[in-house]
Amino acid sequence: MKAAFIETTGDPSAIHYGDLPQPTPQSGEVLVRVGSVAVNPIDLYIRAGMVPMTLPKPFVVGCDLAGTVEKIPEATGNLRSRFAVGDRVWGSNQGLLGRQGTFAEYAAVAEEWLYPTPEGVDDKTAAAVALVGITAHLGLFRDARLQAGEIVYVNGGTGGVGSMVVQMAKAVGARVITTVGSADKAKLCQQWGADCVLNYKTDDIPARVREFARGQGVNVWYETQREPDFLRTVDLMAQRGRIIVMAGRQAQPLFPVGPFYVKGLSLHGFAMFNATSTEQRRCAEDINRWLKSGQLKPLIGRVFPMSQAAAAHQLLEENTLGKAGTLHGKIVLTP
Ligand SMILES: NC(=O)c1ccc[n+]([C@@H]2O[C@H](COP(=O)([O-])OP(=O)(O)OC[C@H]3O[C@@H](n4cnc5c(N)ncnc54)[C@H](OP(=O)(O)O)[C@@H]3O)[C@@H](O)[C@H]2O)c1
Repeated sequence: MKAAFIETTGDPSAIHYGDLPQPTPQSGEVLVRVGSVAVNPIDLYIRAGMVPMTLPKPFVVGCDLAGTVEKIPEATGNLRSRFAVGDRVWGSNQGLLGRQGTFAEYAAVAEEWLYPTPEGVDDKTAAAVALVGITAHLGLFRDARLQAGEIVYVNGGTGGVGSMVVQMAKAVGARVITTVGSADKAKLCQQWGADCVLNYKTDDIPARVREFARGQGVNVWYETQREPDFLRTVDLMAQRGRIIVMAGRQAQPLFPVGPFYVKGLSLHGFAMFNATSTEQRRCAEDINRWLKSGQLKPLIGRVFPMSQAAAAHQLLEENTLGKAGTLHGKIVLTP
């Protein structure tokens, strides 16, 4: 089968596209014929060696996938598959913690990381929501316990995670403040129902947030940036607000201890790949419900053939790390 893989970590040119043996699904796994995959920042960090992980050799890059169940090994003992051959599925959390990745024509995936794709949802859409949707959901609901009517602030409202946070928060009846870097991106956030869309390059963010939150403050601050500004954030929070951090491994920002505890705030950090399969499946159930109802629509910015995986990594690197602002949505690849 064709696959995009690395032999050693390095820059995007370390990714080769070529032939690898088709994997054989083991007990508890199914073989998925891949229809689409998506690129995430963690793919770049792993490929570059910035986030050290045990990698199979060769290592097929990529965490997300959507496709069709091709083969299920004979059930052993009490193990009965949740799926049948021909079922459409999506999933994430592959290519992590020693598991093989997804950028290939076929992937053998443990069933616990797979979910049924709702009727009417294509593979590109399902792949594009996978890791970012689960990440947004874990932060908003498992950790921040977002309630209807609360105010959520999220940076980068059209980014991979940010766009999911905006739409999920609206789906449960929260009020959303988000930031973008251009007028066309602002329009997209407004279409998704964001209540207050600010330009992080030109607007006075603290003043505009205070004006919107009218003395109440922000209940849930979902920080997607790698350099959080806790002095600003804590100042804008409501009593008993919850702050989520999930980016910026090297960041060591100043932290205003007094204002933080006097407001009764809490700070939650997580890496989605450490969430259990039960926690991730809980997210997937809501994601499927919202995909079906049309309340969750991933923004797909570019579609590449899988043979151009290196170019796809390069483009995401320029944007997530280089802040080029030239990408409007997720990068999806097809075999
Ligand atoms: N912990 C976890 O489990 C986990 C999971 C997923 C992602 N992450 C991390 O979360 C971060 C975001 O991931 P992603 O996939 O959403 O990346 P992304 O798609 O590249 O989005 C980044 C967003 O940041 C916005 N942005 C850039 N500069 C900004 C600024 N100065 N102020 C406010 N917003 C700004 C961009 O807005 P414009 O495009 O409008 O300029 C863009 O929307 C990455 O660092 C990633 O590694 C962590």
